[in-house]
Amino acid sequence: MNSINEFKKYKEENKKISVVTCYDYTSATIINETDVDCVLVGDSAAMVMHGFETTVNANVEMMCYHIASVARGLKNKFIIADLPFLQHRKGVDKLVESVDQLMKCGANAVKIEGAGSNVKLIEHVVNSGVPVMGHLGLTPQSIHQFGGYKVQGKNGDEKKLIEAAKDLENAGCFALVLELVPSDVAKKITDEITIPTIGIGAGVHTSGQVLVFQDMLGLNSGFEPKFLRKYLNGFEVIRDAVNKYDSDVKNKNFPSNEESY
Ligand code: KIV
Repeated sequence: MNSINEFKKYKEENKKISVVTCYDYTSATIINETDVDCVLVGDSAAMVMHGFETTVNANVEMMCYHIASVARGLKNKFIIADLPFLQHRKGVDKLVESVDQLMKCGANAVKIEGAGSNVKLIEHVVNSGVPVMGHLGLTPQSIHQFGGYKVQGKNGDEKKLIEAAKDLENAGCFALVLELVPSDVAKKITDEITIPTIGIGAGVHTSGQVLVFQDMLGLNSGFEPKFLRKYLNGFEVIRDAVNKYDSDVKNKNFPSNEESY
């Protein structure tokens, strides 16, 4: 299994890091057989697996359910889990308790969104012996603050993002997700810090990429942001397979004698 030391080395050696999200056991058994470097049990589970509009609805119980399912299917991949909405803002004891729960379910590291007044809290988690991945740019837990899924770091906000990235590196983060950030800003951040940057909608210069499993497989039919590359038309492929089954049953083609006892 990879560790945070390998991710740092990959950046030094200019080797790209691939990350994919995962929320369930069956997908984990597939991802386990791939070459991807690392798996994120994102709080996007609230949207992708539960149909909520935003990640605000994720909580520790939901995350633990998904982390444990993924951990049962992954034998040799580093698992990062999202600390859900506001768990770091309810006092240090609550923060440590939540991180403890995520780690005991099977996470190897946690991801915490934002910088600013979160930096000290992140430092506390790192000093407690838990690897932390930072997350800057469009941080989905603050979607109502942003007023929509918009590219961040434009119009003079670039300096603030670079400073925030340095703060997170100094706090001990082992890597940093950059979400919906202009390519040139992501490049500057990647060049100015030593920890790897993992982009989603952040262009070609980051140290690695992350995509949501269901998005890259084309299972989310209406979701087509510019940054997304679909590696399968999963929605159509699965719909057509289920329709084929339906017609086989109705046309008395399934089961056959060979499929009977
Ligand atoms: O929750 C998630 O899936 C994420 C990734 C999109 C980075 O935070």
